[in-house]
Amino acid sequence: MYNCAVILAAGKGKRMKSVIPKVLHKVCGKEMVNHVIDTLREGGVEDINIIIGTGAEKVKVNTSSKNVSYSLQDTQLGTGHAVKCAKEFLKSKKGTVAIFNGDAPLITADIVKKLIAFHEDNNFTATILTSIVENPYGYGRIIRECNGEVKKIVEHKDCSKDELEVRELNAGMYCFDVEALLVALEKLSNNNCQGEYYLTDVIEILKNDGKKIGAIPVEFEETMGINSRVQLAEVEKIMRKRINLKHMENGVTLIDPDSTYIDSDVVIGNDTIIYPNNVIEGKSVIGEGCVLYPSSRIKDSIIAKNVIVQNSVILESNIGENTTVGPFAYIRPESNIGKHVRIGDFVEVKKSTIKDNTKVSHLTYIGDAEVGEKCNFGCGTVVVNYDGKTKNKTIIGDNVFIGCNANLVSPIKINDNSYIAAGSTITKEVPEEALAIARTKQINKEGWVTKKGLNK
Ligand code: UD1
Ligand code: CA
Repeated sequence: MYNCAVILAAGKGKRMKSVIPKVLHKVCGKEMVNHVIDTLREGGVEDINIIIGTGAEKVKVNTSSKNVSYSLQDTQLGTGHAVKCAKEFLKSKKGTVAIFNGDAPLITADIVKKLIAFHEDNNFTATILTSIVENPYGYGRIIRECNGEVKKIVEHKDCSKDELEVRELNAGMYCFDVEALLVALEKLSNNNCQGEYYLTDVIEILKNDGKKIGAIPVEFEETMGINSRVQLAEVEKIMRKRINLKHMENGVTLIDPDSTYIDSDVVIGNDTIIYPNNVIEGKSVIGEGCVLYPSSRIKDSIIAKNVIVQNSVILESNIGENTTVGPFAYIRPESNIGKHVRIGDFVEVKKSTIKDNTKVSHLTYIGDAEVGEKCNFGCGTVVVNYDGKTKNKTIIGDNVFIGCNANLVSPIKINDNSYIAAGSTITKEVPEEALAIARTKQINKEGWVTKKGLNK
């Protein structure tokens, strides 16, 4: 019976050269530590404890939706010391605990299950996940006896010349028998190159106590850890490839997967076609049959089916089915765009609702407005929502026709079926079915050019 895990996430990550704690750096839009949490959950682990220390509050806030518990490691004295800090969490547990570094987000649920099953089926006291690579630079090495049994793990910095030749690395993901682990942790010393209490030393301690240790090698693409920005980019690339593969397998066309950037938790319907240089972020959901022409950024937005987007930015908004957006549109947060709407070139929409079948084809700003159905915005319309102090609201009914280059000075109401003459600056409510004209009358000065001697 297996159900608990500890994730080590207290380290600073010196090599990242960052004010952000390492485990909060994002890989495909999701913090490393949240990848590890989600994967452990998917692998069947319910009860998860996170060791926090560096930027503890930040790590807590960023994992707050995950239903995990926390242990505090005040000073970062090493990975062994970190696990010791989870004593309160561990002391009531029996059986297996999985211990995972928080900086290796490529691990998959299948491997988590495999590790646990291997550990329990063989009655090991400790089982180490490993990988075999050409150059395991920086990783702890798995040192085996002549008969192949695991003897110990030696950290890169503590390796002898011979040990450096070993190609099997410690992935920093383990299963332990809880009770044996707690006993062994008490015996750790910091007598090593880095003066730290290494979790890895627990292996040799258990071995010397006559316990059975297992090790299970898996692909390096499952186990890569992130210590630097270079490794962050390498891991990102692998993760991105996986994500893109998944979407293609689900029936999404990616014209060029190498230049398509989709965050981990994005959902995309089948028969959607995505052209190069699209960036789809956060919790975005894209419906079926959409076409995303090149170069858009879509963040935390819900796009319904059959939507066409090109060269635009859509943030925290909803777009209804059969609507087209762009090129060069900017949909800012909290906008709700209906069905069969056209948001054309150089149109900015901010915190506004636009109902079905309305057309805003070019060069328009709509802010803090509620717009009804079947309206038509002429080129160059501006909703004047800001008076220098407050953002005011604009309400536009259904079937309103707004001529080109109109200003709608908020707060204002434009009622159903009305017309606004081109070039008007509207400051008063427009009644239903009225035509509002708010501009000076045209004067033609006959013969003016000749009189001034300006003929060409
Ligand atoms: C560790 C392993 C190494 C393994 C590698 C795999 C040890 C001693 N070494 O090395 O054998 O090959 O991972 O990637 O365990 N942390 C704390 N508190 C601390 C120190 C670290 O919570 O006091 C956390 C970090 O936030 C990180 C994880 O533990 O998530 C690993 O720490 P890191 O310093 O990256 O260890 P490595 O040198 O990579
Ligand atoms: Ca590491």
